[in-house]
Amino acid sequence: MADTITIVDDRTGKKVTVPVIDGVIPSSALRELDPNLRVYDPAFLSTAACRSAITFVDGDAGVLRYRGYPIEQLAEHSTFLEVAYLLLHGELPTAAQLEAWGYEVTHHTMIHENMRKRFVDGFHYDAHPMGMFISSVAALGTFYPESNRIFDAATLDKQVLRLIAKVPTLAAMCYRFSSGLPFVSPNNGLGFGANFLNMMFKIGDDYRVDPTLARAMEVLFILHADHEQNCGTTALRTVASANADPYSAVAAGAAALYGPLHGGANEAVVRMLAEIGDMSQVDAFIASVKSGKGRLMGFGHRIYKQYDPRATLIKRTAEDVFKVTGKNPLLDVALKLEEVALRDDYFVSRKLYPNVDFYSGLIYQALRFPIEMFTVLFAIPRTAGWLAHYRELLGDDAQKISRPRQWYVGEASRDYVPLHKR
Ligand code: ACO
Repeated sequence: MADTITIVDDRTGKKVTVPVIDGVIPSSALRELDPNLRVYDPAFLSTAACRSAITFVDGDAGVLRYRGYPIEQLAEHSTFLEVAYLLLHGELPTAAQLEAWGYEVTHHTMIHENMRKRFVDGFHYDAHPMGMFISSVAALGTFYPESNRIFDAATLDKQVLRLIAKVPTLAAMCYRFSSGLPFVSPNNGLGFGANFLNMMFKIGDDYRVDPTLARAMEVLFILHADHEQNCGTTALRTVASANADPYSAVAAGAAALYGPLHGGANEAVVRMLAEIGDMSQVDAFIASVKSGKGRLMGFGHRIYKQYDPRATLIKRTAEDVFKVTGKNPLLDVALKLEEVALRDDYFVSRKLYPNVDFYSGLIYQALRFPIEMFTVLFAIPRTAGWLAHYRELLGDDAQKISRPRQWYVGEASRDYVPLHKR
């Protein structure tokens, strides 16, 4: 079978034959046929907007790999900082590289005092932490005026380091502010996940981070670090394509992530489970979803048409966490919901399975994170993935400023009607 596709323009008889490489054809073939021809592809269902070597997803097989490494192996053996290095550099670090990277990150976790005083303290008392996070990340960039020198490799590397190191501090700062608690400085003696938990929850001198919970945090960070061209990463790439600085681009990615159809789903799942409240209500809830009243949050995915491999790993991590914290009472409702949905033809025929957000919220809740923080917990590790995409895009000669075309369906030309004649 030829690895080509021939497209014939029946209007002109013009014909173009293009190679199919890795299941992809170039849109330049259509421009060759007719430079004014447009492809109507809302939500990019069939459009590959870039070539990327960072993350591989096979949604039908339930496979996820970062730089070729299966997510299951990384979740079992790696740390978040090692995975961040892998995403950014393409290879696992040597022992010396990992030590140097860990040292650099832990020595860039502090945030300028004015950032807290002038920005974070300026938010309204009940501001949503994700809204605070998005704006604070953008504001953080203003502390580094050199951050717009994005084609200077050393300057860009510094911003990448700063962002990865400082987002947990910023996130914890937003939380402590909204809870009226004093800010806890980063502790350089702790690992990435443990330091974050310490900044979040330390009250008094007796607080110690439980190693099982710190490991769970690392695993959750690893699982959320990247997921190729999702909505947030596409937003980041679009902004980066205009050569905006990395702080502004990460803020754009985070803004997209905030939405309940994207990273905001983890928050929506726990609210949904609490509303269902009891296992006896599960059947009625499923029936209401099937009748079109809302969605089963945490189910379904644009790419995964079977169990999201991250959901499997999160479910396993939940068991470890619950051994320390006690079981989240909503777990039974979630398990029952999954069981009923996966037996129901509505969900089976549409290939709707639990996604990454279905169980993550239950762990976050058991770890004592308030619901409003859940999407921030997603944004912290995703910053590493976003920055890997940011760098990849800047180094990709095929990229230009992102600028889709439209299919204009508005009025044709018409004359202005003066106000007294309307
Ligand atoms: N509950 C009930 N029905 C659903 C769900 C759901 N969670 N998801 C999809 N469907 C149905 C749709 O109604 C549609 O049915 P129809 O063909 O009868 O009209 C069909 O399944 C296909 O749905 P689409 O919306 O076309 O699928 P799409 O790929 O555009 O959406 C999405 C993917 C947004 C994730 C969707 O499944 C959804 O809304 N899920 C709930 C929110 C969620 O969990 N989001 C987190 C995703 S993971 C992440 O972003 C990190």
